[in-house]
Amino acid sequence: MADTLTIVDNRTGKKYELPIQDGTIKAMDLRQIKTADDDFGLMTYDPAFMNTANCRSSITFIDGDKGILRYRGYPIEQLAEDSDHLETAYLILNGELPTASQQAAFTQQITMHTMLHENVKKFMEGFRYDAHPMGIFLSTVGALSTFYPDAKRINDPESRHQQIIRLIAKAPTIAAYAYRHIVGRPYIYPDNDLSYTGNFLNMLFSTPADKYHPNDVLARALDVLFILHADHEQNCSTSAMRNIGSSQADPYAAIAGAAAALYGPLHGGANEAVLRMLDEIGSVDKVPEFIKKVKSGEAGSRLMGFGHRVYKSYDPRAKVIKKIADLVFTVTGKNPKLEIALELERIALQDEYFVKRKLYPNVDFYSGLIYQAMGFPTEMFPVLFAIPRVVGWLAQWQEMLVDPDQKIARPRQIYTGYDIRDYVSKEKRQ
Ligand code: CMC
Repeated sequence: MADTLTIVDNRTGKKYELPIQDGTIKAMDLRQIKTADDDFGLMTYDPAFMNTANCRSSITFIDGDKGILRYRGYPIEQLAEDSDHLETAYLILNGELPTASQQAAFTQQITMHTMLHENVKKFMEGFRYDAHPMGIFLSTVGALSTFYPDAKRINDPESRHQQIIRLIAKAPTIAAYAYRHIVGRPYIYPDNDLSYTGNFLNMLFSTPADKYHPNDVLARALDVLFILHADHEQNCSTSAMRNIGSSQADPYAAIAGAAAALYGPLHGGANEAVLRMLDEIGSVDKVPEFIKKVKSGEAGSRLMGFGHRVYKSYDPRAKVIKKIADLVFTVTGKNPKLEIALELERIALQDEYFVKRKLYPNVDFYSGLIYQAMGFPTEMFPVLFAIPRVVGWLAQWQEMLVDPDQKIARPRQIYTGYDIRDYVSKEKRQ
Protein backbone atom coordinates (compact mmCIF):
# COMPACT_ATOMS: atom_id res chain seq x y z
CA MET A 1 0.00 0.00 0.00
CA ALA A 2 1.52 3.28 -1.10
CA ASP A 3 1.53 6.12 1.43
CA THR A 4 0.23 8.60 -1.11
CA LEU A 5 -2.94 10.43 -1.98
CA THR A 6 -4.05 10.70 -5.59
CA ILE A 7 -5.96 13.83 -6.44
CA VAL A 8 -7.69 14.45 -9.75
CA ASP A 9 -8.44 18.10 -10.42
CA ASN A 10 -11.71 17.99 -12.33
CA ARG A 11 -11.18 21.56 -13.51
CA THR A 12 -8.15 20.52 -15.59
CA GLY A 13 -8.28 16.72 -15.62
CA LYS A 14 -4.73 16.69 -14.17
CA LYS A 15 -3.73 14.04 -11.65
CA TYR A 16 -1.42 14.61 -8.66
CA GLU A 17 0.15 12.20 -6.22
CA LEU A 18 0.87 13.66 -2.77
CA PRO A 19 2.90 11.90 -0.07
CA ILE A 20 1.09 11.02 3.17
CA GLN A 21 3.22 11.23 6.30
CA ASP A 22 1.96 10.72 9.87
CA GLY A 23 -1.61 10.74 8.63
CA THR A 24 -1.23 14.17 7.05
CA ILE A 25 -0.58 15.72 3.68
CA LYS A 26 1.46 18.92 3.47
CA ALA A 27 -0.80 21.87 2.76
CA MET A 28 2.00 23.36 0.63
CA ASP A 29 1.87 20.29 -1.65
CA LEU A 30 -1.56 21.50 -2.77
CA ARG A 31 -0.11 24.68 -4.22
CA GLN A 32 1.09 22.85 -7.34
CA ILE A 33 -2.59 22.23 -8.17
CA LYS A 34 -3.34 25.10 -10.54
CA THR A 35 -5.71 25.88 -13.37
CA ALA A 36 -3.17 28.14 -15.12
CA ASP A 37 0.44 29.26 -14.65
CA ASP A 38 -0.62 32.49 -12.94
CA ASP A 39 -3.10 30.68 -10.62
CA PHE A 40 -1.95 30.96 -6.98
CA GLY A 41 -2.59 27.24 -6.41
CA LEU A 42 -4.95 25.32 -4.15
CA MET A 43 -5.20 26.15 -0.43
CA THR A 44 -7.19 24.60 2.40
CA TYR A 45 -9.89 26.54 4.25
CA ASP A 46 -9.90 25.64 7.95
CA PRO A 47 -11.36 28.29 10.27
CA ALA A 48 -10.51 27.58 13.93
CA PHE A 49 -7.97 24.95 12.81
CA MET A 50 -10.46 22.12 13.11
CA ASN A 51 -8.31 19.75 11.05
CA THR A 52 -4.87 21.30 10.70
CA ALA A 53 -1.69 20.14 12.45
CA ASN A 54 0.43 23.24 13.05
CA CYS A 55 3.51 21.46 14.39
CA ARG A 56 5.18 18.23 15.35
CA SER A 57 5.30 17.90 19.11
CA SER A 58 6.61 15.27 21.51
CA ILE A 59 5.25 16.89 24.67
CA THR A 60 1.60 15.94 25.22
CA PHE A 61 -0.48 13.13 23.75
CA ILE A 62 -4.28 13.25 23.74
CA ASP A 63 -6.69 10.64 22.40
CA GLY A 64 -9.97 12.51 22.58
CA ASP A 65 -12.17 9.52 21.76
CA LYS A 66 -10.64 7.31 24.42
CA GLY A 67 -10.17 10.08 27.01
CA ILE A 68 -6.38 9.65 27.22
CA LEU A 69 -3.92 12.37 28.29
CA ARG A 70 -0.19 11.78 28.68
CA TYR A 71 2.77 14.07 29.27
CA ARG A 72 5.90 12.74 27.56
CA GLY A 73 4.27 9.30 27.53
CA TYR A 74 3.30 9.20 31.21
CA PRO A 75 -0.46 8.83 31.91
CA ILE A 76 -1.92 11.86 33.67
CA GLU A 77 -3.49 9.60 36.31
CA GLN A 78 -0.06 8.27 37.35
CA LEU A 79 1.48 11.73 37.48
CA ALA A 80 -1.45 13.02 39.57
CA GLU A 81 -0.99 10.11 41.95
CA ASP A 82 2.80 10.02 42.31
CA SER A 83 4.40 13.21 41.00
CA ASP A 84 4.41 16.83 42.11
CA HIS A 85 4.06 19.96 40.04
CA LEU A 86 7.75 20.88 39.82
CA GLU A 87 8.76 17.33 38.92
CA THR A 88 6.05 17.28 36.23
CA ALA A 89 7.24 20.70 35.04
CA TYR A 90 10.77 19.33 34.66
CA LEU A 91 9.38 16.34 32.74
CA ILE A 92 7.32 18.51 30.40
CA LEU A 93 10.21 20.89 29.74
CA ASN A 94 13.03 18.34 29.43
CA GLY A 95 11.35 15.17 28.19
CA GLU A 96 12.40 12.91 31.08
CA LEU A 97 11.61 12.64 34.77
CA PRO A 98 14.44 14.21 36.78
CA THR A 99 16.88 12.23 38.88
CA ALA A 100 16.90 13.20 42.57
CA SER A 101 19.80 15.61 42.06
CA GLN A 102 18.28 17.13 38.91
CA GLN A 103 15.02 17.70 40.73
CA ALA A 104 16.79 19.24 43.75
CA ALA A 105 18.72 21.62 41.46
CA PHE A 106 15.58 22.58 39.50
CA THR A 107 13.56 23.17 42.68
CA GLN A 108 16.40 25.24 44.11
CA GLN A 109 16.58 27.40 40.97
CA ILE A 110 12.83 28.00 41.01
CA THR A 111 12.87 28.79 44.73
CA MET A 112 15.64 31.37 44.26
CA HIS A 113 13.64 33.31 41.63
CA THR A 114 10.26 33.75 43.30
CA MET A 115 10.83 37.39 44.29
CA LEU A 116 9.60 40.26 42.12
CA HIS A 117 11.48 43.49 41.51
CA GLU A 118 10.07 46.12 43.90
CA ASN A 119 9.00 48.23 40.93
CA VAL A 120 6.74 45.40 39.77
CA LYS A 121 4.93 45.75 43.09
CA LYS A 122 4.50 49.47 42.44
CA PHE A 123 3.25 48.73 38.94
CA MET A 124 0.66 46.34 40.38
CA GLU A 125 -0.45 48.88 42.96
CA GLY A 126 -1.61 51.06 40.08
CA PHE A 127 -4.55 48.79 39.24
CA ARG A 128 -8.02 49.73 40.42
CA TYR A 129 -9.25 48.04 43.60
CA ASP A 130 -11.77 45.98 41.61
CA ALA A 131 -9.44 45.00 38.76
CA HIS A 132 -9.91 41.41 37.57
CA PRO A 133 -6.88 39.44 38.81
CA MET A 134 -6.47 37.74 35.42
CA GLY A 135 -6.13 41.21 33.85
CA ILE A 136 -3.54 42.08 36.49
CA PHE A 137 -1.75 38.76 35.94
CA LEU A 138 -1.39 39.01 32.18
CA SER A 139 -0.41 42.69 32.23
CA THR A 140 2.20 42.12 34.91
CA VAL A 141 3.74 39.13 33.14
CA GLY A 142 3.92 41.30 30.00
CA ALA A 143 5.53 44.11 32.00
CA LEU A 144 8.30 41.72 33.14
CA SER A 145 9.56 41.90 29.56
CA THR A 146 10.86 45.40 30.36
CA PHE A 147 12.72 44.13 33.43
CA TYR A 148 14.57 41.37 31.57
CA PRO A 149 15.90 42.71 28.26
CA ASP A 150 18.21 39.67 28.10
CA ALA A 151 15.05 37.64 27.34
CA LYS A 152 15.25 38.89 23.77
CA ARG A 153 18.07 36.41 23.15
CA ILE A 154 15.56 33.70 22.36
CA ASN A 155 18.05 31.65 20.33
CA ASP A 156 20.43 31.33 23.27
CA PRO A 157 19.54 28.16 25.22
CA GLU A 158 21.03 29.56 28.45
CA SER A 159 18.98 32.73 28.23
CA ARG A 160 15.86 30.68 27.47
CA HIS A 161 16.49 28.51 30.51
CA GLN A 162 16.91 31.61 32.69
CA GLN A 163 13.57 33.05 31.54
CA ILE A 164 11.82 29.68 31.97
CA ILE A 165 13.01 29.50 35.58
CA ARG A 166 12.00 33.11 36.23
CA LEU A 167 8.54 32.70 34.75
CA ILE A 168 7.68 29.46 36.57
CA ALA A 169 9.03 30.95 39.83
CA LYS A 170 7.33 34.33 39.56
CA ALA A 171 3.92 33.27 38.25
CA PRO A 172 2.59 32.32 41.73
CA THR A 173 4.01 35.52 43.24
CA ILE A 174 2.27 37.67 40.63
CA ALA A 175 -0.95 35.69 41.09
CA ALA A 176 -0.81 36.06 44.88
CA TYR A 177 -0.10 39.81 44.66
CA ALA A 178 -3.02 40.19 42.25
CA TYR A 179 -5.26 38.49 44.81
CA ARG A 180 -3.92 40.56 47.71
CA HIS A 181 -4.47 43.67 45.64
CA ILE A 182 -8.16 42.98 45.06
CA VAL A 183 -8.81 42.08 48.71
CA GLY A 184 -6.83 45.08 49.94
CA ARG A 185 -4.26 43.19 51.99
CA PRO A 186 -0.50 43.85 52.02
CA TYR A 187 1.60 41.78 49.62
CA ILE A 188 3.42 38.91 51.36
CA TYR A 189 6.95 38.10 50.18
CA PRO A 190 7.79 34.54 49.10
CA ASP A 191 9.08 32.16 51.78
CA ASN A 192 11.88 29.91 50.50
CA ASP A 193 11.29 27.35 53.28
CA LEU A 194 7.97 26.37 51.77
CA SER A 195 7.06 24.16 48.80
CA TYR A 196 5.89 25.68 45.49
CA THR A 197 2.20 25.40 46.39
CA GLY A 198 2.76 25.88 50.16
CA ASN A 199 4.52 29.18 49.44
CA PHE A 200 1.74 30.21 47.06
CA LEU A 201 -0.94 29.53 49.70
CA ASN A 202 1.15 31.43 52.26
CA MET A 203 1.47 34.50 49.99
CA LEU A 204 -2.30 34.35 49.44
CA PHE A 205 -3.66 33.76 52.89
CA SER A 206 -1.17 34.76 55.58
CA THR A 207 -1.25 38.16 57.27
CA PRO A 208 1.73 40.06 58.72
CA ALA A 209 0.11 39.61 62.14
CA ASP A 210 -0.51 35.87 61.93
CA LYS A 211 1.69 32.95 60.96
CA TYR A 212 -0.18 30.90 58.35
CA HIS A 213 0.28 27.13 58.20
CA PRO A 214 -0.70 25.78 54.80
CA ASN A 215 -2.88 22.70 55.25
CA ASP A 216 -1.02 19.67 53.80
CA VAL A 217 -4.14 18.21 52.18
CA LEU A 218 -5.02 21.50 50.49
CA ALA A 219 -1.42 22.14 49.38
CA ARG A 220 -1.29 18.63 47.86
CA ALA A 221 -4.71 19.09 46.21
CA LEU A 222 -3.51 22.34 44.64
CA ASP A 223 -0.35 20.59 43.50
CA VAL A 224 -2.39 17.88 41.77
CA LEU A 225 -4.59 20.53 40.14
CA PHE A 226 -1.40 22.20 38.90
CA ILE A 227 -0.20 18.88 37.40
CA LEU A 228 -3.53 18.42 35.62
CA HIS A 229 -3.39 21.91 34.11
CA ALA A 230 0.31 21.97 33.15
CA ASP A 231 -0.08 21.29 29.42
CA HIS A 232 -2.75 20.34 26.92
CA GLU A 233 -1.06 20.42 23.50
CA GLN A 234 -2.28 22.85 20.81
CA ASN A 235 -5.20 24.59 22.57
CA CYS A 236 -6.15 28.23 22.03
CA SER A 237 -3.65 29.77 24.47
CA THR A 238 -0.78 27.46 23.50
CA SER A 239 -1.37 28.25 19.84
CA ALA A 240 -1.28 31.95 20.80
CA MET A 241 2.03 31.35 22.61
CA ARG A 242 3.51 29.62 19.56
CA ASN A 243 2.12 32.26 17.19
CA ILE A 244 3.51 35.19 19.17
CA GLY A 245 6.77 33.36 19.85
CA SER A 246 7.17 32.67 16.12
CA SER A 247 7.76 36.39 15.55
CA GLN A 248 10.72 36.04 17.98
CA ALA A 249 9.02 38.15 20.66
CA ASP A 250 10.43 37.50 24.13
CA PRO A 251 8.68 34.89 26.31
CA TYR A 252 7.18 37.47 28.73
CA ALA A 253 5.36 39.19 25.87
CA ALA A 254 4.33 35.81 24.43
CA ILE A 255 3.03 34.54 27.79
CA ALA A 256 1.04 37.76 28.28
CA GLY A 257 -0.67 36.94 24.96
CA ALA A 258 -1.18 33.30 25.86
CA ALA A 259 -2.70 34.30 29.21
CA ALA A 260 -5.02 36.70 27.39
CA ALA A 261 -6.24 33.80 25.23
CA LEU A 262 -6.74 31.69 28.35
CA TYR A 263 -8.82 34.44 29.97
CA GLY A 264 -11.83 33.85 27.67
CA PRO A 265 -14.87 31.95 29.02
CA LEU A 266 -14.61 29.27 26.33
CA HIS A 267 -11.10 28.41 27.52
CA GLY A 268 -9.54 28.98 30.98
CA GLY A 269 -12.27 31.41 32.02
CA ALA A 270 -14.75 28.51 31.94
CA ASN A 271 -14.08 27.50 35.57
CA GLU A 272 -15.18 30.97 36.66
CA ALA A 273 -18.21 30.76 34.35
CA VAL A 274 -19.21 27.38 35.84
CA LEU A 275 -19.51 28.88 39.31
CA ARG A 276 -21.53 31.80 38.01
CA MET A 277 -23.78 29.30 36.22
CA LEU A 278 -24.25 27.25 39.42
CA ASP A 279 -25.11 30.47 41.26
CA GLU A 280 -27.61 31.35 38.56
CA ILE A 281 -29.26 27.91 38.81
CA GLY A 282 -29.46 28.29 42.58
CA SER A 283 -30.84 24.89 43.63
CA VAL A 284 -31.04 21.27 42.51
CA ASP A 285 -34.74 21.47 41.60
CA LYS A 286 -33.97 24.21 39.02
CA VAL A 287 -31.54 22.00 37.09
CA PRO A 288 -34.06 20.53 34.56
CA GLU A 289 -35.27 24.03 33.72
CA PHE A 290 -31.68 25.19 33.13
CA ILE A 291 -30.89 22.17 30.93
CA LYS A 292 -33.97 23.00 28.87
CA LYS A 293 -32.71 26.57 28.43
CA VAL A 294 -29.29 25.34 27.29
CA LYS A 295 -30.83 22.93 24.79
CA SER A 296 -33.02 25.62 23.31
CA GLY A 297 -29.89 27.76 22.87
CA GLU A 298 -31.66 30.61 24.67
CA ALA A 299 -29.45 33.72 24.74
CA GLY A 300 -26.52 31.59 23.61
CA SER A 301 -26.50 29.77 26.95
CA ARG A 302 -24.21 26.77 27.21
CA LEU A 303 -23.57 24.26 29.91
CA MET A 304 -20.24 25.69 31.04
CA GLY A 305 -17.58 23.11 31.95
CA PHE A 306 -19.08 20.74 29.39
CA GLY A 307 -17.82 19.85 25.94
CA HIS A 308 -14.39 19.97 24.38
CA ARG A 309 -12.92 20.36 20.91
CA VAL A 310 -10.76 17.26 21.33
CA TYR A 311 -12.37 15.09 24.03
CA LYS A 312 -15.44 13.27 22.79
CA SER A 313 -15.56 11.26 26.02
CA TYR A 314 -15.08 12.10 29.72
CA ASP A 315 -12.11 14.47 30.15
CA PRO A 316 -9.54 12.37 32.09
CA ARG A 317 -8.59 15.46 34.11
CA ALA A 318 -12.19 15.87 35.28
CA LYS A 319 -12.16 12.28 36.58
CA VAL A 320 -9.09 12.98 38.76
CA ILE A 321 -10.52 16.32 39.90
CA LYS A 322 -13.73 14.67 41.07
CA LYS A 323 -11.66 12.46 43.38
CA ILE A 324 -9.63 15.41 44.72
CA ALA A 325 -12.85 17.28 45.42
CA ASP A 326 -13.88 14.57 47.91
CA LEU A 327 -10.51 14.89 49.62
CA VAL A 328 -10.65 18.69 49.82
CA PHE A 329 -14.21 18.69 51.12
CA THR A 330 -13.11 16.49 54.10
CA VAL A 331 -11.01 19.50 55.18
CA THR A 332 -13.13 22.46 54.06
CA GLY A 333 -16.62 20.99 54.33
CA LYS A 334 -18.69 20.25 51.25
CA ASN A 335 -19.28 23.05 48.77
CA PRO A 336 -23.08 23.41 48.80
CA LYS A 337 -23.04 23.84 44.99
CA LEU A 338 -21.67 20.32 44.55
CA GLU A 339 -25.18 18.87 44.63
CA ILE A 340 -26.24 21.14 41.76
CA ALA A 341 -23.16 20.17 39.74
CA LEU A 342 -23.72 16.45 40.32
CA GLU A 343 -27.35 16.75 39.27
CA LEU A 344 -26.37 18.71 36.13
CA GLU A 345 -23.88 16.01 35.23
CA ARG A 346 -26.39 13.20 35.95
CA ILE A 347 -29.09 14.71 33.75
CA ALA A 348 -26.74 15.83 30.96
CA LEU A 349 -25.05 12.43 30.66
CA GLN A 350 -28.37 10.76 29.88
CA ASP A 351 -29.93 13.53 27.81
CA GLU A 352 -30.01 12.89 24.06
CA TYR A 353 -28.83 16.44 23.23
CA PHE A 354 -25.56 16.00 25.15
CA VAL A 355 -25.12 12.30 24.31
CA LYS A 356 -25.52 12.91 20.57
CA ARG A 357 -22.98 15.74 20.60
CA LYS A 358 -20.61 13.80 22.88
CA LEU A 359 -20.58 16.54 25.52
CA TYR A 360 -19.00 15.44 28.80
CA PRO A 361 -17.66 17.33 31.83
CA ASN A 362 -14.28 18.91 31.14
CA VAL A 363 -11.47 20.02 33.47
CA ASP A 364 -13.33 23.18 34.45
CA PHE A 365 -16.55 21.58 35.63
CA TYR A 366 -15.43 20.59 39.12
CA SER A 367 -12.19 22.58 39.62
CA GLY A 368 -14.04 25.78 40.54
CA LEU A 369 -15.93 24.02 43.32
CA ILE A 370 -12.61 23.00 44.86
CA TYR A 371 -11.08 26.45 44.46
CA GLN A 372 -14.12 28.02 46.07
CA ALA A 373 -14.07 25.57 48.99
CA MET A 374 -10.39 26.45 49.47
CA GLY A 375 -11.32 30.11 49.87
CA PHE A 376 -10.49 31.55 46.44
CA PRO A 377 -12.82 34.19 45.02
CA THR A 378 -14.30 33.25 41.64
CA GLU A 379 -12.18 35.82 39.75
CA MET A 380 -9.04 33.97 40.80
CA PHE A 381 -9.99 30.72 39.04
CA PRO A 382 -8.54 31.52 35.61
CA VAL A 383 -5.36 32.72 37.32
CA LEU A 384 -5.12 29.34 39.07
CA PHE A 385 -5.29 27.76 35.61
CA ALA A 386 -2.63 30.10 34.23
CA ILE A 387 0.06 29.45 36.88
CA PRO A 388 0.67 25.79 35.98
CA ARG A 389 -0.03 26.35 32.26
CA VAL A 390 3.01 28.66 32.16
CA VAL A 391 5.01 25.41 32.13
CA GLY A 392 3.25 24.03 29.05
CA TRP A 393 3.40 27.36 27.23
CA LEU A 394 7.16 27.56 27.80
CA ALA A 395 7.81 23.96 26.78
CA GLN A 396 5.81 24.43 23.57
CA TRP A 397 7.50 27.78 22.88
CA GLN A 398 10.96 26.23 23.25
CA GLU A 399 10.01 23.25 21.08
CA MET A 400 8.77 25.64 18.40
CA LEU A 401 11.99 27.70 18.47
CA VAL A 402 14.28 24.72 17.87
CA ASP A 403 12.03 23.11 15.22
CA PRO A 404 13.61 23.67 11.78
CA ASP A 405 10.14 23.32 10.16
CA GLN A 406 8.84 26.41 11.97
CA LYS A 407 8.76 29.98 10.64
CA ILE A 408 6.79 33.08 11.55
CA ALA A 409 3.11 32.04 11.74
CA ARG A 410 1.16 33.62 8.93
CA PRO A 411 -2.14 32.06 7.80
CA ARG A 412 -3.70 32.80 4.43
CA GLN A 413 -7.19 34.12 3.80
CA ILE A 414 -9.94 33.94 1.22
CA TYR A 415 -10.46 37.58 0.30
CA THR A 416 -14.17 38.41 0.12
CA GLY A 417 -14.00 42.20 -0.20
CA TYR A 418 -14.34 44.62 -3.13
CA ASP A 419 -12.29 44.42 -6.27
CA ILE A 420 -10.27 47.58 -7.05
CA ARG A 421 -12.28 50.83 -7.04
CA ASP A 422 -11.45 54.54 -7.18
CA TYR A 423 -11.27 56.83 -4.15
CA VAL A 424 -14.45 58.91 -3.68
CA SER A 425 -14.16 62.46 -2.35
CA LYS A 426 -16.27 63.35 0.74
CA GLU A 427 -18.76 65.51 -1.20
CA LYS A 428 -19.59 62.65 -3.53
CA ARG A 429 -20.14 59.96 -0.85
CA GLN A 430 -23.66 58.65 -0.28
N1 CMC B 1 -23.39 23.34 26.18
C1 CMC B 1 -24.35 23.14 25.25
N2 CMC B 1 -24.08 22.84 23.97
C2 CMC B 1 -22.81 22.72 23.61
C3 CMC B 1 -21.75 22.89 24.53
C4 CMC B 1 -22.09 23.21 25.86
N3 CMC B 1 -21.14 23.39 26.77
N4 CMC B 1 -20.58 22.72 23.90
C5 CMC B 1 -20.88 22.43 22.62
N5 CMC B 1 -22.22 22.44 22.46
C6 CMC B 1 -22.95 22.11 21.22
C7 CMC B 1 -22.89 23.25 20.23
O1 CMC B 1 -23.97 24.14 20.38
C8 CMC B 1 -22.92 22.51 18.91
O2 CMC B 1 -24.25 22.09 18.69
P1 CMC B 1 -24.84 22.08 17.18
O3 CMC B 1 -24.07 21.02 16.47
O4 CMC B 1 -26.29 21.78 17.35
O5 CMC B 1 -24.61 23.46 16.62
C9 CMC B 1 -22.11 21.22 19.20
O6 CMC B 1 -22.27 21.01 20.61
C10 CMC B 1 -20.64 21.35 18.85
O7 CMC B 1 -20.13 22.49 19.54
P2 CMC B 1 -19.01 23.44 18.98
O8 CMC B 1 -19.17 24.79 19.60
O9 CMC B 1 -18.99 23.37 17.48
O10 CMC B 1 -17.70 22.72 19.51
P3 CMC B 1 -16.28 23.36 19.65
O11 CMC B 1 -15.30 22.26 19.53
O12 CMC B 1 -16.11 24.50 18.71
O13 CMC B 1 -16.28 23.99 21.13
C11 CMC B 1 -15.97 24.27 23.46
C12 CMC B 1 -15.62 23.43 22.22
C13 CMC B 1 -15.15 23.79 24.63
C14 CMC B 1 -15.60 25.73 23.19
C15 CMC B 1 -17.50 24.13 23.75
O14 CMC B 1 -17.81 22.78 24.04
C16 CMC B 1 -17.96 25.05 24.88
O15 CMC B 1 -18.28 26.20 24.63
N6 CMC B 1 -17.98 24.54 26.16
C17 CMC B 1 -18.32 25.39 27.27
C18 CMC B 1 -17.11 26.20 27.70
C19 CMC B 1 -16.09 25.33 28.41
O16 CMC B 1 -16.41 24.56 29.30
N7 CMC B 1 -14.81 25.53 28.04
C20 CMC B 1 -13.69 24.83 28.68
C21 CMC B 1 -13.03 23.89 27.78
S1 CMC B 1 -11.91 22.78 28.67
C22 CMC B 1 -10.67 23.80 29.29
C23 CMC B 1 -9.75 24.28 28.27
O17 CMC B 1 -8.84 23.52 27.89
O18 CMC B 1 -9.94 25.42 27.82
